[in-house]
Amino acid sequence: MTLTVEALSVRFGSTPILRDVGGLRAQPGELTALIGPNGAGKSTLLRSIAGIERYSGQVSLDETLLDSFDIAERARHVYYLPQDSGTRAALSVFEAVLLARRTTHVSDRRHDLQRVRHTLQSLELEAYAERDLGQLSGGQRQRVAIAQAVVREPRVLMLDEPTSALDLHHQLQVLEWLVAMARERNMIVVIAIHDLSLAARFSRHMWLMGNGGRVQAVGTPREVLTEARLREVYAIHAHVDWPADEPPRVTPLSATRSLGGTSSWQNF
Ligand SMILES: Nc1ncnc2c1ncn2[C@@H]1O[C@H](COP(=O)(O)OP(=O)(O)OP(=O)(O)O)[C@@H](O)[C@H]1O
Ligand SMILES: [Mg+2]
Repeated sequence: MTLTVEALSVRFGSTPILRDVGGLRAQPGELTALIGPNGAGKSTLLRSIAGIERYSGQVSLDETLLDSFDIAERARHVYYLPQDSGTRAALSVFEAVLLARRTTHVSDRRHDLQRVRHTLQSLELEAYAERDLGQLSGGQRQRVAIAQAVVREPRVLMLDEPTSALDLHHQLQVLEWLVAMARERNMIVVIAIHDLSLAARFSRHMWLMGNGGRVQAVGTPREVLTEARLREVYAIHAHVDWPADEPPRVTPLSATRSLGGTSSWQNF
């Protein structure tokens, strides 16, 4: 099973947002990182794959165009967790995650309860199981939203900046767990993420979007993350290191010019 995107374009009104996005592949069992500057179109791309945004082009799972599914079927196969997600509904953490599970699985109640408990443990949330959602910190709420997405067990799970509110421990812990889960359940997992060191460390393949809603590069982290490309796409000088005995490191050194313009911030 491969997720494929070809010739995908999206317009908001008369403004093109994604232009002929293609050559994207994501495989089950591994994490694919979607990276690129603010406004490049990462969220729009993930929303399009989920069928939330209208697009022209082809999004397919193996030979099946996702367009051929009805909305409910597509939502069962492909789940998108938005950035800034996290509900404050009047539910406990356990109830909220169980409710998410029951939207896609209705057969075995005991198994569902077990799966919810196990997921809360994996995300270090078991101590908050009985707590109301409205009484959580931002990072705890983000982890609950990840738990809700995961227990649905879609074939394609897309998480939009899932670690943006997390402390360093939980960034590592959540990403390690997502990698293990993708492998164990043979799931396609695509995450949009701004931290390039973490993206390089945990993803097997990367999709790099640039300004103008175009794909700038796809490939392994080593192929995609070159210093020249970071200068071009992110307008930064950066060191990219691939130490043999440590995780990869992308160290941003300075901003070279305003992104999307020619003026330098130093002129202000
Ligand atoms: N509803 C909308 N109407 C018009 N333009 C929009 C709308 N939503 C997003 N855009 C524009 O589309 C472009 C892509 O936005 P998108 O949210 O996909 O970027 P992104 O890569 O996810 O950025 P970020 O890293 O900030 O999350 C941006 O220029 C944004 O201003
Ligand atoms: Mg976004």
